[in-house]
Amino acid sequence: MVRHVREFAQAEIAPLAPQLDRKPSFPWKTLKMMGELGLLGILTPEAYGGAGLDMLSYVVLLEEISAADASHGTIMSVTNGLPQQLLLKYGSEAQRQRYLPKLASGEWVGSFCLSEPHCGSDAAAMTTRAKKVDGGYLLSGTKAWITSGGEAQLYLVLAKTEPSAGARGVSCFAVEKTEGMVFGKPEEKLGQHAAVTTTLTFDRCFVPEENLVGSEGQGFSMAMASLDSGRIGIAALAVGIARAAFEAARDYAGEREAFGRPIREFQGISFKLADMVTKLEAARLLTHRAAWQQDRARRVTREASMAKLFASEAAAEITHHAVQIFGGYGYSKDYPVERYFRDARVTEIYEGTSEIQRVVIGRQIFKERVR
Ligand code: CAA
Repeated sequence: MVRHVREFAQAEIAPLAPQLDRKPSFPWKTLKMMGELGLLGILTPEAYGGAGLDMLSYVVLLEEISAADASHGTIMSVTNGLPQQLLLKYGSEAQRQRYLPKLASGEWVGSFCLSEPHCGSDAAAMTTRAKKVDGGYLLSGTKAWITSGGEAQLYLVLAKTEPSAGARGVSCFAVEKTEGMVFGKPEEKLGQHAAVTTTLTFDRCFVPEENLVGSEGQGFSMAMASLDSGRIGIAALAVGIARAAFEAARDYAGEREAFGRPIREFQGISFKLADMVTKLEAARLLTHRAAWQQDRARRVTREASMAKLFASEAAAEITHHAVQIFGGYGYSKDYPVERYFRDARVTEIYEGTSEIQRVVIGRQIFKERVR
């Protein structure tokens, strides 16, 4: 399966990446193909239309897609890792039956709404309100940095049902796209242009009570637990971008000549490549370890944050070195490495900044009594 997905990603997705970067559009055509291959419901059991594979398989396949194009990787990671994981773990049977087959097949894309314009890292400070009314809830407030905003058909939205209760007052809702939801214009970002990002405003938007996921007040813990697996996905995505950058730099160093010989023969270049491949493999191993541990139903809060922290910072460093090895050409859009450099940057930010990963790891050291 890995070879098949690699061939698919390199043949169908990689050639689109430069164009999607320059003239972004949501890549529905290739997403449908990914859905047919089972890549949009990898962890969802076959009974709900998914591929029923494990987390280790998921990260290996996500690396392949992300090495071809990071925007596809982000859309894949969010729809697999957050809404489907939340519904699988905490959703009612009716919610699973209704939403999982659509998401897993790629007929629908799923999204996750936690951050708000004034709060990202301090997620519990959200002010979006879900007010109980007859038969359901009225949602009011603005969510920010919504991956696939306006394109996704299902949004897992975190909102406060009990504003005075802090994190314990947060609940989660499965919200189908309706006309009452107002999407902002796509954010103009440094990279990953085809993974459209918008705000989403609710103005007394009615959500039926059967769309509450889990119970009232459980939303924050559910979101955090889902981010544990989501962050393993972002680590895999960073590994994919870093691998593409390393391979491009390795090949270029073999072809480009300076002072009468290929530049790979200069120690300044070969040492850089040695550091790049060592960091790449270390990042991959941390990612695989976290995934392996999740497959054994162990809590992965620390391992997921360690994998995301290390892999995203490694990707930033590896893509930086790749641009340097390409010299002037690395700074030009004629080669892909400047795109890898821009695409990698957000992996240090979304699904929890590197600083938040350090907070999480630091807390877990003492909770788990790590030696
Ligand atoms: N698993 C299960 N429960 C968890 C948990 C986890 N990993 N982490 C925390 N919780 C629970 C706690 O046990 C606690 O529950 P109780 O009150 O019942 O004890 C509750 O959640 C609150 O926990 P904290 O006191 O630790 O909460 P905090 O306010 O101190 O915040 C934080 C902790 C780690 C800073 C958290 O706010 C955080 O992770 N912030 C970053 C948010 C983030 O990653 N945003 C990314 C947006 S999503 C995105 O980017 C998706 C996309 O589209 C690309």
